[in-house]
Amino acid sequence: MAAKRYHVTTFGCQMNEHDSERMKGMLESLGYAEAGDPADADLILFNTCSIREKADERFIAHLNQAKALKAKDPERLIGVGGCWAQSVKEEVFRQFPFVDVAFGPGQVHKLAEFLTSDSLTAQGYFEFEGFTGHLPARRERRYQAWMQISVGCNCRCSYCIVPSTRGREVSRPPAELVEEARGLVADGVREVTLLGQNVNAYGRDLRPERASFSQLLYALAEIDGLDRIRYTSPHPKDMREDVIRAHAELDAVMPHIHLPLQSGSTRILKAMRRTYSRERYMDRVALIREHVPDVALTTDIIVGFPGETEADFQETLEVVEEVGYDGAFTFIFSPRRGTEAAELPDDVPHEEKVERMQRLVEVVQRRAHERAQRFVGRTMDVLVEGPSRNDPDRLRGRTGHNKVVNFSGLAQPGQIVPVEITGATSQTLTGEMSLLSALATS
Ligand code: 5AD
Ligand code: SF4
Repeated sequence: MAAKRYHVTTFGCQMNEHDSERMKGMLESLGYAEAGDPADADLILFNTCSIREKADERFIAHLNQAKALKAKDPERLIGVGGCWAQSVKEEVFRQFPFVDVAFGPGQVHKLAEFLTSDSLTAQGYFEFEGFTGHLPARRERRYQAWMQISVGCNCRCSYCIVPSTRGREVSRPPAELVEEARGLVADGVREVTLLGQNVNAYGRDLRPERASFSQLLYALAEIDGLDRIRYTSPHPKDMREDVIRAHAELDAVMPHIHLPLQSGSTRILKAMRRTYSRERYMDRVALIREHVPDVALTTDIIVGFPGETEADFQETLEVVEEVGYDGAFTFIFSPRRGTEAAELPDDVPHEEKVERMQRLVEVVQRRAHERAQRFVGRTMDVLVEGPSRNDPDRLRGRTGHNKVVNFSGLAQPGQIVPVEITGATSQTLTGEMSLLSALATS
């Protein structure tokens, strides 16, 4: 009998990308093979997100496609995992009776239980029971890996659905993480990205011994062969000097900090329950730049939060202008069920939100373009990812600052090579790897 096949579609953030890798690894250990297309799969899985309305709509369209495929072949199984599944729980089976299994984030192992059980009735798994860290993962790239260091979040940002879907924060013990990182490095990994909803609150929940995020960074930086350590996302309120120092003192901790701003208006920040003011945020930025002057800063911004006036929005533009981010993810506020902000009057007209977004993106891009010019003329270490997307004769990789570089040269994916930067736009850099440096590469 031919091996059973699965297909996974992932929505949302890196946390979900990571969970999907675990699902794939686990399914492959159960003897499943990946199908290129859902139409060829015995098991169609969706790893869902509930952060934005848009993802939901895309997801529903995909789910209806899967329903049609199942109508043709009722043996097919359909599974829904992730944050959206968690937010609606058992209701998923009422809304979509053709779904066979549903599970929340961090419940990936339950999928194996379901697949290997004799039960054919639909099942849902929504209690957090543990991390997926011990499950095999199938990495998209041999030399890059994600490590989940915590789940959940103790913050109460009024717009965010995460606290209700992923629960209170639970950290993994540092020794376990160091061991996992060692294993990854032995398996060819050079770059890890540490994942958590609020990574710099890491370890405070651990008993008997608490741990801190900076301690974790120092411990990981000692691992030979682990060349690049990244993380996402920190909360500005918890961005303390110890973590900033780790950037300054440890070569392996990359010079990039993603520091979600959300709004530049103290009034709106308060309504968002972010617990910092515009001034406190700017103090953090100043402290970071004092210790790591060349750092790349990126951010997340929401426009059109309930009650956001033109004056509030102007403050956001001012902060973006002042900080000069290397990049930003911008979001239009959308009310999520069960959040505090969903109860507030969503009073900024949609056209106004769209217009603010456009104005914001313009400033973000202009500043990112200006900031990127500082790289031109420098020779930077680039982790090669493969051929360039637009020109297969060139290569693509990332600098320590997390900038994509398209460059000419000869190198294999996973190598770190020096590239002279010759041009910069707001999004990408261009460069050349010299033959001489090619001889000297690692
Ligand atoms: N509406 C719009 N954007 C949101 N984000 C989180 N919740 C919402 C929401 N309800 C954005 C925030 C966060 C990023 C991951 O998604 O900017 O940092
Ligand atoms: Fe990720 Fe948040 Fe979406 Fe969950 S809700 S998948 S944590 S972005």
